[in-house]
Amino acid sequence: MIYLDNAATTWPKPQQVVTAIEEALVHKGGNAGRGGHGAAMQMARLIYQTREDLCVLFGTNNPTRVVFTQNATYALNQALFGILQTGDHVITSSLEHNAVARPLWALKQRGVEVSEIPGVPGEEFDLEVYNKAFRPNTKLVVTLHASNVTGTLLPVKQIGQIAHEHGVYYLLDAAQTAGVFPIDLGHLPVDLLAFPGHKGLLGPQGTGGLIVKSEIRLESLIYGGTGSLSEEDRQPDFMPDALESGTLNGPGIAGLGAGVRYILSEGVDKIRVREQALCRKLWEGLREISVVKLYGSDMVERRSPIVAFNIGEFDSIEASHILEEEAGVIARAGIHCAPHAHRMLGTLQLQQGVIRFSPSHFTSEEEIEAALQAVRRVAEELS
Ligand SMILES: Cc1ncc(COP(=O)(O)O)c(C=O)c1O
Repeated sequence: MIYLDNAATTWPKPQQVVTAIEEALVHKGGNAGRGGHGAAMQMARLIYQTREDLCVLFGTNNPTRVVFTQNATYALNQALFGILQTGDHVITSSLEHNAVARPLWALKQRGVEVSEIPGVPGEEFDLEVYNKAFRPNTKLVVTLHASNVTGTLLPVKQIGQIAHEHGVYYLLDAAQTAGVFPIDLGHLPVDLLAFPGHKGLLGPQGTGGLIVKSEIRLESLIYGGTGSLSEEDRQPDFMPDALESGTLNGPGIAGLGAGVRYILSEGVDKIRVREQALCRKLWEGLREISVVKLYGSDMVERRSPIVAFNIGEFDSIEASHILEEEAGVIARAGIHCAPHAHRMLGTLQLQQGVIRFSPSHFTSEEEIEAALQAVRRVAEELS
């Protein structure tokens, strides 16, 4: 198998991640915060360590503002439903994943106004349009950092600055960039950061989180046991308990911590440069196949490590099946939970979607060459 679907979830994971999960399951069996006994305390320590590791990675210094969730989608929903109320206005981009687009649609049904700012992958973003979109009732700006369809980076620093000039919070969906691009909350004008644990952070599935800057209070999506203030009916209002009800995924979070420490020791820049070099090889190789259509700009080094393409007019899902059956090449094809981005690319209207290759820094040059060879063969067969 040649696994080129790391934008969906990274695989393989570093051995340290596997070991940390096993350690937690075999030797640290307690439930964090549920009791003062040794086993519970050991798990609590592991979880707190991961909060601290995430603070180091994201340039922030308050581990209690790191809220664990089961994925990026939950973190985004927590932020959106936790802030927006009927009568509020929110600004977003036209490249969003359904993890943002669907909660915003649901909020629209409850009377929240939504402005979607157009942006085409591969073209310059018109920041003046963001500037002009603000209204007296604008409460939030939410965008992704990089498109999961083409890897296109949004000018998040400028968007955040504009949001702050208007006195509005900025929620960033870092699903495609956490662990791959530097994200320094000490300098970036981002107030809420949603991230998955299972993609670039190299943790297991079922992990993710939301970092909430200290002055922001969110209404919780769910309520329940936190192991704190157990005698009271009301939810604690201190963080992270206010937003973390029920048993956490302790072993998963221990694995996530090991993933983050692995990234810190390797270096985000080193990981990204390697992945972008592999994408450059893919891009150049695919460009030479006459029937292949590539999407986004050719500035591969200015986007997250994704290469999106089609083989002529052929359906992307069928082409991807052939690539898997004939050469064991694993890619994601279709609409990638991002219909708005595909509408901007023109691939929604054609119902074609795109084939997405996303290597990790564990992918070898030989695997990239084998994937290119497979596309060449399939392109020949289909044309
Ligand atoms: C840009 C973007 N946002 C959000 C998500 C959702 O992440 P998760 O599956 O962890 O909920 C994804 C997943 O692919 C994504 O690419």
